[in-house]
Amino acid sequence: MKTQEIIAKEKQFGAFNYNPIPLVIAEGSGVWVTDVEGKRYLDFLAAYSAVNQGHNHPRIKEALLEQLERIPLTSRAFHNDQMGMFLEKLCTMTGYEKALPMNTGAEAVETAIKAARKWGYKIKGVPENKAEIIAFTGNFSGRTTTVISFSTEDQYRDGYGPFTPGFVIAEYGDYEDVANKVNENTVAIFIEPVQGEAGVIVPPEGYLKQLRELATANNVLLIADEIQSGFGRTGKFFCCEHEGVRPDVLVVGKALSGGYYPISAMLSDDDVMRVFTPGDHGSTFGGNPLASAIGIAALDVLVDENLTENSARLGEYLLEQLKTIANPLIKDIRGKGLFVGIELKPEAGGARKYCEMLMHEGVLCKETHEDTIRIAPPLTITKEELDIGITAIKKVLAVK
Ligand SMILES: Cc1ncc(COP(=O)(O)O)c(C=O)c1O
Repeated sequence: MKTQEIIAKEKQFGAFNYNPIPLVIAEGSGVWVTDVEGKRYLDFLAAYSAVNQGHNHPRIKEALLEQLERIPLTSRAFHNDQMGMFLEKLCTMTGYEKALPMNTGAEAVETAIKAARKWGYKIKGVPENKAEIIAFTGNFSGRTTTVISFSTEDQYRDGYGPFTPGFVIAEYGDYEDVANKVNENTVAIFIEPVQGEAGVIVPPEGYLKQLRELATANNVLLIADEIQSGFGRTGKFFCCEHEGVRPDVLVVGKALSGGYYPISAMLSDDDVMRVFTPGDHGSTFGGNPLASAIGIAALDVLVDENLTENSARLGEYLLEQLKTIANPLIKDIRGKGLFVGIELKPEAGGARKYCEMLMHEGVLCKETHEDTIRIAPPLTITKEELDIGITAIKKVLAVK
């Protein structure tokens, strides 16, 4: 079955909630994927940073297959012989005392919201049902009803009300605004240290540090959603490290599995995590032995292959190269590590057509919102491979 036939089938039987770039991927290895026609592409998106370790990483695959032979799922009704080791590795590598494993990113975000609210009532002493969480304009943390309740994107909310109350929105990057919105019922400030979905928006330098101080001074939890920005993507293991900031709660997902499986987690010290007692929260698949075995291998690969360092080194080169493109249709080029957004002016007619042109050049990117091309290749990429992508971008954005 070839491209058009497969796309037609998807259209006939699938919900129309996505608008993919029109190619059909059949295989992948490292930074390369191959479509059903046999054409190879350089992946410059890495499944929205879930494949930081590269497609089909042999070491993660081996761990998966080995565990698959033993037992994939036990449920949390019983202990399994993998989860403890996985959580130990995750805690040791991130510097937190406790981890609570879930599956998708949105579920880990929900977990952090529940933890913060419960912490507010049980420990901070906020009156019942009065807890407030401050989130930011442009945020993206998933698609559940509660998570979209603090989205500022009309389309993500349209038709889905009524929404979960208890969220207050501050302007991303504006310290005064968030400072003015903290009150005695504020339990958390919830932030993406770089906003991926909004178009790789980097807040002003020092902002995270200011939020850290604000949270500490007001007995408020600082929660960082590093589901997309974490695990080396921005050139540090976690993006908050660029400013020496340690959030009270860290939310991770995506590359925690290297793309093999949905694995996410909420991390904190015991002072927060202890609000959960048996029966308070859970997930049938969260922390299952297959996920745990995959997670251990995925974390090991990030460290053993120095992927964070590669992201820092090549990210700088990528940004430097892209900034040499002199096209008046480019509004801004920004990023951190191998996480870059090229924002086009409205006159460019949208980023989509450039992503489709890049596809024809053998490079896969995706537009984010109307005007930004998001670039986030697997962190295993070499300089030679990166140069192939840069050449294609330069060609596509060359002034005609
Ligand atoms: C920062 C951030 N948080 C949360 C999510 C939601 O993750 P998931 O799609 O696995 O639910 C995403 C997904 O793109 C994300 O970028």
